[in-house]
Amino acid sequence: LRHFLTTEGLPRQLLLQILDTAESFAGVIDKSVKKVPLLRGRTVINLFFEASTRTRITFELAAKRLSADVLNVNVATTSVKGESLLDMLRNLEAMQADMFVVRHAESGAADYVARHVGPGVSVLNAGDGRHAHPTQAMLDAFTIRRHKGDFEPLIIAIVGDVMHSRVARSQIHALSALGTGEIRVIAPRTLLPRDIESLGVRVFHDMRLGLQEADVVMMLRLQRERMQGALLPSEPEYFRIYGLTEDKLAAAKPDAIVMHPGPINRGVEIDSRVAEGPRSVILEQVTNGIAVRMAVMSMTLGVYQEMPREPA
Ligand code: CP
Repeated sequence: LRHFLTTEGLPRQLLLQILDTAESFAGVIDKSVKKVPLLRGRTVINLFFEASTRTRITFELAAKRLSADVLNVNVATTSVKGESLLDMLRNLEAMQADMFVVRHAESGAADYVARHVGPGVSVLNAGDGRHAHPTQAMLDAFTIRRHKGDFEPLIIAIVGDVMHSRVARSQIHALSALGTGEIRVIAPRTLLPRDIESLGVRVFHDMRLGLQEADVVMMLRLQRERMQGALLPSEPEYFRIYGLTEDKLAAAKPDAIVMHPGPINRGVEIDSRVAEGPRSVILEQVTNGIAVRMAVMSMTLGVYQEMPREPA
């Protein structure tokens, strides 16, 4: 595994290896040990061309926990002199970068960077346009496995703006490969991509029907920055029909967990009482992002060795 650009087409074994590796890192960093020396002397460069709180900071924390040197390039102030992306990359590579973590508003940007870096450099996709957000999907799968164990008996419902969501696409690919019993998407027709049926999911437009017997409810943000003329109800109307409230959540299993990749829009796709409620694992997802990103970084740079497990 040299780059990590998408979950599409990845074999189940590899996804399980990422989850297991993340589990062993979580076991170490949850306790007194805060750092391991696996990436000592390596340089990780965060190239975020689009805003991020959770992904950028947990990538930085993950690299630091692995003892790498981390640089956060402020793209807004770095590329002001008309330099092309490619020239900028060549210069950063000349500074002996080992890894680029790339977020960009254009689908395919991380693949483009991966095609143009030298053989010793790994590229991780931290979210590109509507295309993919593979580490988000893996931290979501990690969180689900911690709460529910096996994927096979699960009904997982993904709710909201699937059309513009790179998270949903990566989740569907990863959860399918991991053998999830049933993946549902719940959304208005205007927020579903044309190829949705081909992704092997069950489509619902009625939220209460779609949530029935669900084990996991994954909410999505309305991605307004990627909408161009989409036919949308007003926010209060959207919340009334597709916002997750305690009342609608009652249709899911009593032990269903509630997830959201963040940032959450309270009162638009989720009610505060649900976001803060006992079934919400939203902040756990953020914490789990550190171990999962440690796993992906160490596996792509080929330095992963099984962490010594502490005696029970
Ligand atoms: N989930 C996610 O990608 O959040 P950020 O945009 O804050 O990184």
